[in-house]
Amino acid sequence: MFQSLPGFRDFLPDDCAVRNHLFRHWRQSARLFNFAEYDAPVLEPLEIFTQKSGEEIVGQLFNFTDKGGRAVTLRPEMTPLVARLVGEKAGSLKRPIKWFSVGEQYRYEAPQKGRLRAFYQWNCDIFGQSEPAADAELIALCAEALKAHGLTSADFAIRLSDRDLWLGWLSGLGFEGDRASQVLVVVDKMERDKLDEQIRKLTPLFGPRALDFLGQVEKLKSLRSLDALRAFLSAQELGDEIRARLDKRLGEWADLLRQLEALGVADCIRIDLGVVRGLAYYTGFVFEAFEATGKGRALAGGGRYDNLVEKLGYQPMPATGFAMGDVTLRILLEEKGLLPKLIQAPDLYCVVGGEAERHSALRLAASLRAAGHAVEVPIKTTGFVKQLAAASASGAKLALIIGSEENNKGMVKIRDLAAKKEAEFPQARINEAVEQVLAEGLA
Ligand code: HAM
Repeated sequence: MFQSLPGFRDFLPDDCAVRNHLFRHWRQSARLFNFAEYDAPVLEPLEIFTQKSGEEIVGQLFNFTDKGGRAVTLRPEMTPLVARLVGEKAGSLKRPIKWFSVGEQYRYEAPQKGRLRAFYQWNCDIFGQSEPAADAELIALCAEALKAHGLTSADFAIRLSDRDLWLGWLSGLGFEGDRASQVLVVVDKMERDKLDEQIRKLTPLFGPRALDFLGQVEKLKSLRSLDALRAFLSAQELGDEIRARLDKRLGEWADLLRQLEALGVADCIRIDLGVVRGLAYYTGFVFEAFEATGKGRALAGGGRYDNLVEKLGYQPMPATGFAMGDVTLRILLEEKGLLPKLIQAPDLYCVVGGEAERHSALRLAASLRAAGHAVEVPIKTTGFVKQLAAASASGAKLALIIGSEENNKGMVKIRDLAAKKEAEFPQARINEAVEQVLAEGLA
């Protein structure tokens, strides 16, 4: 007996139907914002992720050496890949580049509720725009995609934060470059770490001021409005240069929030500087979507990454994007009762008298399928009553009844399974007859 690997899923038809339902919604939402679909290989050179994704993901790679001696890995995320694709073709692509993909990602994490080792992500990214308008469009797309399932601001929130603001503030406190990144790594884990663990991590950076800094961080994380953020920063002792940088940034915040208002998603946005994102490449606005009370793992996450394309060796190109996962989304939709019954039913179900009639049924089915109808013809002919019961149970709208009596006259009976009405039509006009019955019902 064999089982699938921990954290990997089998998709039996019911699960596949749910998966396809999520994919359909993702593609439809992307379409409404005019994003174009792309894809990339699932197996990639190891280096692109070890260099660009940051420590956390590198520790979770499904990597191995292939038979040609290459160091390769299953992709844990799309962002470095899409940056590579865009970087390679940058010269010939019309800006702004608005792309999305739906694909499986692989991370060797401890499987738990909402976290698996193989999961699907919907990635949406905009390249070539540094204005907050691009961030606004993506945040709105993320919100609208959740709303499209019937979720509202009572069900989910998008926590909005800003690495640029963090880095500006940290720079005012004397932390630049790597040291500032180290602080953000600790901040990213704060919700999971206990206080003594947080202090242990911050002491090498802040010495005896670690507890003091933590107090400031707690305050910053509790701010929920732009005015409160402004007040917090103006109360800090910062040099003129830093102050000017932060003022400019707060202006961009105001711009972003105004656009989110106009886009009709302001109700889902929660300012929350507690979000800094674990991935190494983020540079500006960052956000994460969560269930409204904050329970469970994130539904989506993303942000601006203006340096990644250049760091991969291509021309500089501002970029921003996010990814939504299928695992947490499905859990939330199930909890809220927002997954529709996804029944796969044929349009028509043939009920046949015997082998001679089966032949006619096959002909009729071929003609109807060519016109786009889903038709079931029983592979084995069983009793008439049993077949009729199976036709009803299948969820089909109509049964085509081809008994020897009808068949000998070149006729077929069309039965409306819900209305329990039937009438005879010539087999030679089957497509016309079915269209008519579907449109008008049976008298
Ligand atoms: P991420 O926050 O690592 O970001 O993942 C985005 C989403 O993918 C998460 O919010 C979650 O729904 C889902 N996800 C991640 N890991 C797992 C897992 N082990 N099991 C189930 N679901 C998971 C990124 O991946 C960035 N590359 C997103 C991005 C796109 N940034 C810019 N563009």
